[in-house]
Amino acid sequence: MFNKEQQLIETKIREFCAANDIPLAELKWQPIPFSGEWGFATSFFQTAANEARTGKSGKPVPLRAQEMAEQVKGQIGTVEGISRIDAVKGYLNLYFSTAAYASRVVGEVLASGPDFGRGTKKNERVMVEYAQPNTHHSFHIGHARNAILGEVLARLVEFAGFETIRASYPGDLGLGVITVMWIYDKLYKGQEPSGVHERGQWLAKLYVEATAMLEKKEDETPEQTAQREAYDAERREMYRKWDAGDATVRELWHRTREWSLEELRDILGILDIKIDVWFYESEVDEPSKVIIDELIQKNIADDERPNGGAVIVKIDEKLGLTKDKYRTAVVLRSDGTSLYLTKDLALAKVKFEQYHVDRSVYVVDFRQSLHFEQAFKILEMWGFPQASNCYHLSYGYVTLPEGAMSARRGTVALFKEVYDEAIKRVLQVETEKSADIPAEERQKIASQIGLGALVYSMLAVDNNKHIVFDINEALSFDGRTGPYIQNAYVRANSILKKANIQSFKAANSQNFDYELTKHEIELIEQISRFPQTVEQAANEYRPLVMASYAYDLANTFHSFYHAVNVMQTTDEKTRNARLQLVMAAKQTIENALRLLDIQSPDVM
Ligand code: ARG
Repeated sequence: MFNKEQQLIETKIREFCAANDIPLAELKWQPIPFSGEWGFATSFFQTAANEARTGKSGKPVPLRAQEMAEQVKGQIGTVEGISRIDAVKGYLNLYFSTAAYASRVVGEVLASGPDFGRGTKKNERVMVEYAQPNTHHSFHIGHARNAILGEVLARLVEFAGFETIRASYPGDLGLGVITVMWIYDKLYKGQEPSGVHERGQWLAKLYVEATAMLEKKEDETPEQTAQREAYDAERREMYRKWDAGDATVRELWHRTREWSLEELRDILGILDIKIDVWFYESEVDEPSKVIIDELIQKNIADDERPNGGAVIVKIDEKLGLTKDKYRTAVVLRSDGTSLYLTKDLALAKVKFEQYHVDRSVYVVDFRQSLHFEQAFKILEMWGFPQASNCYHLSYGYVTLPEGAMSARRGTVALFKEVYDEAIKRVLQVETEKSADIPAEERQKIASQIGLGALVYSMLAVDNNKHIVFDINEALSFDGRTGPYIQNAYVRANSILKKANIQSFKAANSQNFDYELTKHEIELIEQISRFPQTVEQAANEYRPLVMASYAYDLANTFHSFYHAVNVMQTTDEKTRNARLQLVMAAKQTIENALRLLDIQSPDVM
């Protein structure tokens, strides 16, 4: 926001250091919170420390840093827009007049609108892979955390200025998939529920039923054992046929896979997620085997198939590590079939070579940490140049109050059911409270709020923390919740509506030349922090940083709303400035919510 001033001063600092042969460290600026006035600061400690290392100055670092700050200050003279410059304890502090700062912040928001906070364009292309559940299951609340986390990360990275590609990678093969196809073929052939979600959820039920049929039970009778083994033989036969490309089995696979994908696409639609590239595990199966041949040739992988074993990579041993770290990974089964790990080697190659990405982020829960460490390490050993640009964004899993979710047992909270319940609850309240809103609009608002609550509950937790998903908690609308933030937006909107203001021309200068109240100062300060929050959240891959910010901003706005009566401000100039501040707050809340994949309803 103060790029112009910053650059001007940076130039002067560089000139000073060049003239005095001082090894300048990277210049970092930080805002000075309000205490009578606002400002920003930079420190000379690092530079003084660098200089000390060259042995040029014999002075203690703090003393020398302060000396530099003072000399630079003397060098700068006066700068337009800056009211005061201080050199204190090795820092150079630059202050603005309060009115100038306030109008600068508000003016910037109003001029940039939806782009307020957007980072400068970076020359880097980032691929974010998320929303990649296995097919032939149904989308549960754990998948929702993954999808939301990935989408918000993609939005943050994109808004921070990186070119962003959203990718999905559904697991569409393997024993779980075959299990569902087996029972369908055996017991339900020709049947098919009608709705998209019913069909997807039905597959999940079939999986539970099949698992029960195939699972060894305690105290089995010999007949039961024989029966179970016969089932398993059928399933294995189906797997073999799938592998061999049998037309009937492949047709069944395609058809049932599509049921899952239709459901997935529908849910991504609800979540406003638009995936750019779809990879499928089945598509990298063949290419992955070629890589294994190379690994064997390069003596990275050991082929133990001649002795009835598998193809393995003794990662630790090859790296000369004496402690267990990456361990030994199987990369091809003895029968020549690939594994999950094998396919990730090929996938990484496709991502970098076909999409020319510079960085590749995998949003996958922490239980797969070792898997990704192994995959990236093997890629590196293989000589894959971008192995170090692969990053596993690990996060905690979601459990229910009654325990872990299990697709095998069918003990999962399905996203669609939770979503429907959320809307139902909000509608109930809305119907009582806001009977004046037309029914259709009420429905739309209810879905915005219900989803807002759900989405925020998934983001208000740091990546590495587990979530115990309690629907009542997720749908409570008080405290740190999505609706609390949405409500701040609604309030800002209602003030502007009362004042009959659609927008301010950016050219309209903001005049904050009056005694600002504490609440106005806090609000301006919060708003001014938005751009750096975008940058921080994107750099750290932490949606929580933005989620917390949005809450703090809403909180500050609610306090302002209660303390400052904008419409009853008698002085017209002051009222006008306040209205502009409200509009800037509304815009900033909207931008923050958008990055969090939460909609901003006009009323609620
Ligand atoms: N489909 C996998 C699962 O549900 C997640 C895929 C993660 N991405 C990857 N490149 N391995 O566990």
